Amino acid sequence: MSELTPLTGEALAEIAACADLAALDAVRVRWLGKKGRITEQLKHSGKRVASEGTETVVALQAARQAIEGALAERRAAIGAAALAREIEAGRLDVTLPGRGEEPGGLHPVTLARLRIETLFRRAGFDVASGPEIEDDFHNFGALNIPANHPARAMHDTFYFADGRLLRTHTSPVQIRALRERGAPLAVIAPGRVYRCDSDITHSPMFHQLEGLAVGEGVSFANMKAVLHGFMEAFFERDLAMRLRPSYFPFTEPSAEVDMSCVFCQGQGCRVCKHSGWLELAGCGMVHPHVLEACGVDPERYTGYAFGAGIDRLAMLRYGGNDLRLFFENDQRFLRQFRAFRA
Ligand code: PHE
Repeated sequence: MSELTPLTGEALAEIAACADLAALDAVRVRWLGKKGRITEQLKHSGKRVASEGTETVVALQAARQAIEGALAERRAAIGAAALAREIEAGRLDVTLPGRGEEPGGLHPVTLARLRIETLFRRAGFDVASGPEIEDDFHNFGALNIPANHPARAMHDTFYFADGRLLRTHTSPVQIRALRERGAPLAVIAPGRVYRCDSDITHSPMFHQLEGLAVGEGVSFANMKAVLHGFMEAFFERDLAMRLRPSYFPFTEPSAEVDMSCVFCQGQGCRVCKHSGWLELAGCGMVHPHVLEACGVDPERYTGYAFGAGIDRLAMLRYGGNDLRLFFENDQRFLRQFRAFRA
């Protein structure tokens, strides 16, 4: 009995020193576990009562109760402290300022398209559009690209099971506009086009600008003047222009349009691959077959058409050197154009 009081005191001190539940459980096992110090002494209670009377056993049971009580109390205190810490850590300061609202901006391709539309409207062109899902007739046939024509191989076309396709260029809008409105007309058609192609300079979806002017006496010289005027207005600087003979089934004669490099003024730099020239468009006089397919008399009317890459124009005017950045919609990239005006 006399040993019991300091023993209980020792247990209670250990319990008080426990900082977490694991330590507390170790203390419980040491004192009240199967081989615990109190449990061991209680094992032979029957014999003890017989030989010593009830006094020691009653004291042992009281010690066990005291230790159990202290363990429960300590367990509750540790739990409460952990909860308090959790609440403290997760506390929200509702008085902190918010992230704020950023003003939106236009995508560089949209900036370029709007600028192109404004400049061509000023020159008397209407803005036309057509479907991105096209049929063979508008995308190829009416453009003088019959079935099995080798030019089809250059257009890596996405086809649908029913024979329709994603337009590979904006030229089908030439056909639609001419059939709907007839001659004379002057339209541009900016829009998305699709080709099965993807690397730094090719994206499976990109943007083209189509131009078409048909009328009596429309000439190659008119086309040259309009394209040159447009490029100088678009880049807001004097530029040299050159036409190189080329081939498109829907124009004859056909040419590639080069402008002196906007970065080095024709001196040669990385952007123009040290040639001093940037290839910006394909063009030519509308082929008589195309006029005929649209019900326009090729004996009376002539016309020119051109096609340019809007993404390329956007990169050259607003910056950016990887076409794919334009279509990833990474906010860090797009934010840089926020303050730009078309
Ligand atoms: N459609 C042609 C292309 O995608 C470009 C072009 C349009 C060429 C109009 C001449 C006239 O490559």
